Amino acid sequence: MKVWALSFFVLILSCFLKVESNSSIYNVIDYGARGDGHIDDTKAFTKAWEAACSSSSSSSPTMQVPSEMTFMIQPLYFRGECDPKQINVEINGNIVGPKDPSDWTCYDGCREWIHFEHVDGLRVYGSGTINGQGQKWWDLNAFTKAWEAACSSSSSSSPTMHVPSEMTFMIQPLYFRGECDPKQINVEINGNIVGPKDPSDWTCYDGCREWIHFEHVDGLRVYGSGTINGQGQKWWDLNALKISNSNNVYLTGLSFKDNPRVHVEFKGSKSVYISGISIDAPGNSPNTDGIHIGGSTDVFINDCSIKTGDDCISMVDGSSNIQISNITCGPGHGISIGSLGKHGAEDKVENIHVSDVVFTGTTNGARIKTWQGGNGYVRDIVYERVLCQEIAYPIIINQNYCDHEHCETQNAAVQVSNVTFRQFLGTSRKETAIMLDCSKAVPCKDIILENIYLRTTHGHHAKSVNNNAHGRTQGLMVPVIPLS
Ligand SMILES: *[C@@H]1O[C@H](CO)[C@@H](O)[C@H](O)[C@H]1NC(C)=O
Ligand SMILES: *[C@@H]1O[C@H](CO)[C@@H](O)[C@H](O)[C@H]1NC(C)=O
Ligand SMILES: *[C@@H]1O[C@H](CO)[C@@H](O)[C@H](O)[C@H]1NC(C)=O
Repeated sequence: MKVWALSFFVLILSCFLKVESNSSIYNVIDYGARGDGHIDDTKAFTKAWEAACSSSSSSSPTMQVPSEMTFMIQPLYFRGECDPKQINVEINGNIVGPKDPSDWTCYDGCREWIHFEHVDGLRVYGSGTINGQGQKWWDLNAFTKAWEAACSSSSSSSPTMHVPSEMTFMIQPLYFRGECDPKQINVEINGNIVGPKDPSDWTCYDGCREWIHFEHVDGLRVYGSGTINGQGQKWWDLNALKISNSNNVYLTGLSFKDNPRVHVEFKGSKSVYISGISIDAPGNSPNTDGIHIGGSTDVFINDCSIKTGDDCISMVDGSSNIQISNITCGPGHGISIGSLGKHGAEDKVENIHVSDVVFTGTTNGARIKTWQGGNGYVRDIVYERVLCQEIAYPIIINQNYCDHEHCETQNAAVQVSNVTFRQFLGTSRKETAIMLDCSKAVPCKDIILENIYLRTTHGHHAKSVNNNAHGRTQGLMVPVIPLS
């Protein structure tokens, strides 16, 4: 009894001290989080956030996620605007999502897992990890992709979309749209397809009138030994961390692992500092961009290690004044500008400086990709001090980007100008180490290549390709490239 009373007293005292001795700390434990990796701690996180966000006792309160504990959280929306000028989120523990897709509850159709919005002066940092446990979800987009590939196939007059046996596929409403190029199109379903368990969890493209809907598909054949079971599970296909419409934001130190899509996305933000984060997803995980920047300006990304299945860093429309340095990238698709100008869009990206990068085993290094038929520009870009280790295209500009088989030549293009590639050293897995594939109608201007030494992986001479790029070379040039 004595022991009980004493420990009760100590507990009360420590709670008292924790909360009262420093009113600027909002530890999720004090708001009821358990941190055992299983019990849902979402409510505690929300409460701690709300308390920090409305704090009147401190001008820079800290929401704290303590170390050596694992917190299971559902999708969370941290909404500003907050009263304090600066708000800190210190994550030293591990954050995981529910293991099973059926256990996710989504507030907004499950597009983001952790979403901060309208939070000026946000600083997210710590030694913790954010682990989406996403392996189970990567194949969810596969149905649409397989369909589109089959539907636009030019290599077969009767392609087959195949759903293999002894597997269970959970899908949301899917719209298989024609018209397709092949005269006949086969859908062979031998596995199981299930839908979301709870009707309220369906995300619907047309008001939930159909689950699996084929339209305008002449010559369709659907067959196989599988089952289609709409009583299935909830569905998850979301970007792990998105920060939008927030200025003066810091994101540092965290590890991101196996998230199903983009790991970190910034949109519509200004003055963003990302440093010391690591991202780790398998090289074959589709659409898992490491860091994706759109509509944002004054962004600094330093000291990050990124392994993923898509671009390590991608920058799209409205990105300007971005500095990226000391990045290791690979596996992945490189550090990319674009794609831009898709479907005739007017996209603008300017003033990007990328330096001190090590690419290892990536499919691209420095890449600029724009679609035919777009408008706008990519200009004032520098990539420098880049080490390439067995990568497929160390330097690539593709102004004729096309992700399917038929893209007609068009007259418009996003203008690419004033781009410098300086001090590239290393090896290329492809024979073509430098690929400048610019538009005939809107050639690339002022492309500068300086001090480049790229050989093939086997130590052979690498090649270069120049279509419609103008500019000059300086210093050492291996391989040589005609540029004028
Ligand atoms: C209170 O919190 C601030 C900011 O985290 C910290 O610098 C300070 O040392 C803390 N004070 C005490 C008494 O713990
Ligand atoms: C580069 O980034 C890594 C983390 O990826 C860090 O350990 C290292 O200290 C950084 N180097 C410099 C020179 O800042
Ligand atoms: C080309 O880009 C560099 C780097 O952004 C910039 O400093 C320079 O002023 C630009 N040159 C022109 C002619 O705009």
